[in-house]
Amino acid sequence: MLEKKSAHPPPQLTAADQARLDDLHRTIAEQAQRFLGYPCNGDFDYSPLYRFLQFPLNNVGDPFLDTTFRLNTHAIECEVLEMFRQFTRAPAADFWGYMTNGGTEGNMYGIYLARELLPNGVVYYSEDTHYSVAKILRLLHARNIMIKSLANGEIDYLDLKETIRIHRDAPPIIFANIGTTMKGAVDDVTRIKNIMRELAIPAYYIHADAALSGMILPFVDNPQPFDFPAGIDSVSISGHKLIGSPIPCGVVIAKKTNVDRIARSVEYVGTLDTTLSGSRNAITPLFIWYALRMHGESGFRAMIRRCLEMADYAIEQFAAQGIKAWRNRNSITVVFPRPDADLAKRWQLAVHNDIAHIITVPHVTAGHIKQLLQELQPRPAGAGAP
Ligand SMILES: Cc1ncc(COP(=O)(O)O)c(C=O)c1O
Repeated sequence: MLEKKSAHPPPQLTAADQARLDDLHRTIAEQAQRFLGYPCNGDFDYSPLYRFLQFPLNNVGDPFLDTTFRLNTHAIECEVLEMFRQFTRAPAADFWGYMTNGGTEGNMYGIYLARELLPNGVVYYSEDTHYSVAKILRLLHARNIMIKSLANGEIDYLDLKETIRIHRDAPPIIFANIGTTMKGAVDDVTRIKNIMRELAIPAYYIHADAALSGMILPFVDNPQPFDFPAGIDSVSISGHKLIGSPIPCGVVIAKKTNVDRIARSVEYVGTLDTTLSGSRNAITPLFIWYALRMHGESGFRAMIRRCLEMADYAIEQFAAQGIKAWRNRNSITVVFPRPDADLAKRWQLAVHNDIAHIITVPHVTAGHIKQLLQELQPRPAGAGAP
């Protein structure tokens, strides 16, 4: 702890304020028992890191450069980035990245970088893209065209090809979904690259939104092509999703040669202003580093296998009740028909049009699924009443 100068006794909460915190804690602990609809893993214990919370840490600036603000965890952040470099097989000699506040910031960074490199570019993204991307495109004033999706959630490659053909004068910036939000569908980067080749497009950029599946595909035996060797130029992955963190966070990885073209030097912090956020979280790099070191690659492989098995178990249980549930290959997002609003609310299920999903992140158990399905049973008249 920083040395305290004040001789005054420390301030204390009133009993009412203390009770308010206790109530909130109780409510959250209850809600955490029925948390099936979002891809955020609650199965973690970072208590050995709590001692770092006593410092005003800040990872302001470029993690790879020295800065005058020394209360940071840049060294640990760089180790996290190196691990993600390996997961996404980014070239060791040409990679850069930083830890973001979450997937949205990483996607914004990727589109920003692409737009700076290809100022006349048009961003193509599918109907199934996360809702935040439309806002990012508005913020960046980036020209953009929405492409149709296939029934499983992947981008419609024919529509993509025909649309790019019509706009051949503008370099394409492809926003590829590596695991869509509702259906966990993975856009095929190889097919997208083939479209570019068939249309003889000389300059283009591919950003991968791998919010959840960026921590799945590196650990399965037969992943869809999604990484740097497959042809992406940048990728955004959330840290609080599959890995799990009490504070939202993520990672963006890009090619250093591209990033160098847009970097600006800032004297106030004595470093390069390469990141979107100025002040940045220095605790989340510690959490993610800790999780990655604790589990290791083999731990994540085993974890993903269990998550996929749990997804299949859920599909079987739905089928046993005559409900058609399904998932995409290498996805832990189990899609099923939209249930009634009460049930969706009770289990915190995300719904969209006629579908809902559960996501079998590591904290989801067979017991949760059984209980959900019991409640999905048609209830006798009046049974739903409070
Ligand atoms: C595919 C996809 N992209 C982006 C996001 C946004 O990520 P975040 O909530 O980490 O900002 C999500 C969130 O669910 C997502 O599913």
